[in-house]
Amino acid sequence: MRLPDCHSFKDFRMLAKRRLPGPIFHYIDGAADDEITYRRNTEAYDACDLVPNVLAGVDEVDMGVEVMGQKLAMPIYCAPTALQRLFHHDGERAVAKAAQKFGTMVGVSSLGTVSVEELSETISTPKMFQFYFHKDRGLNDALLERAKAAKFDVMALTVDTITGGNRERDLKTGFTSPPRLTLQSLMSFAAHPMWALNYFTHPAFELPHLKDHVSAGTNLATSVGDYFSTMLDQSMNWRDAEELCAKWNGQFALKGIMSVADAKRAVDIGCTGIMVSNHGGRQLDGSRAPFDQLAEIVDAVGDQIDVICEGGIQRGTHILKALSIGAKACSGGRLYLYALAAAGQAGVERALGNLRAEIERDMKLMGVTKIDQLSVENLRFRRR
Ligand code: GLV
Repeated sequence: MRLPDCHSFKDFRMLAKRRLPGPIFHYIDGAADDEITYRRNTEAYDACDLVPNVLAGVDEVDMGVEVMGQKLAMPIYCAPTALQRLFHHDGERAVAKAAQKFGTMVGVSSLGTVSVEELSETISTPKMFQFYFHKDRGLNDALLERAKAAKFDVMALTVDTITGGNRERDLKTGFTSPPRLTLQSLMSFAAHPMWALNYFTHPAFELPHLKDHVSAGTNLATSVGDYFSTMLDQSMNWRDAEELCAKWNGQFALKGIMSVADAKRAVDIGCTGIMVSNHGGRQLDGSRAPFDQLAEIVDAVGDQIDVICEGGIQRGTHILKALSIGAKACSGGRLYLYALAAAGQAGVERALGNLRAEIERDMKLMGVTKIDQLSVENLRFRRR
């Protein structure tokens, strides 16, 4: 199987599985506990049917959207994700350049592996910085200042990682960042020599946003779950979020909102966006799927704040369903991470290109030429 054979999310996943050492593949692919929420995130879309209109004159289709003040050429963007240079030596550089080619936004994680400064020199299209609220207040201030100085367009505070999710695949494989060199991991590197060659012949792996403040993740091997549990501030509350929002003084989102009550509070503290998300099923297993929860949230706050639907998206039709309910845009991690692991920038470009082609085809088949022509009128929900 090669890149030209990748037509869907599942194809990229298969290619990534072949290319990556097991512990790294399972870190991307895995989720919390029994992974019920992880599966539900995608299955939720299957319980909703599209009802197309026809004879609508669809030769010209415009799939552009505006979200949190950013004009995006397509309604899906690359969610911030951690540790990308472990998956491919170009990491965030590859993802950012691919996102720029497709005119969409790219998210960069606090646990990212290429600095905000370098990325803002690399691309000129919209960039989001994902913020983890650490116990170390000096680190928090530095993160905010660096993202601001690098002229990032949107700040997103993650609120669903107050403690680490129980990622049992990581416990079984012993996955850490940086990878711990055990007999087991060395054997899995030897079985994936191309990955190992690239990893060991490129500049040493580090977490540039954190390394001057904490050694965990760069010099001290840690699992992401342990990082959340030990380094992040579990006392974080609405006052802290409000202060951060005021300090940023720009487009500011809470990432990981699931309840209507919290969505309303996000509006009250001055946020301009929320990501309805359960962190890709990686935190609280049994949590509801974002798509199932979307209508309640859009009905309550959709006219006051931009609602983004994140998690489980594998197809253009998933995106059209979320937008029909009233999401302003969608975002996803695994949908470009497998492609990054499979083939770097060319892989991410192919994944985004496939999605763009699907969205365009599906809009034509739905009888719409603009995103705002989608509506709940054209959805039906099955009884479960
Ligand atoms: C990081 O955000 C992760 O979910 O591993």
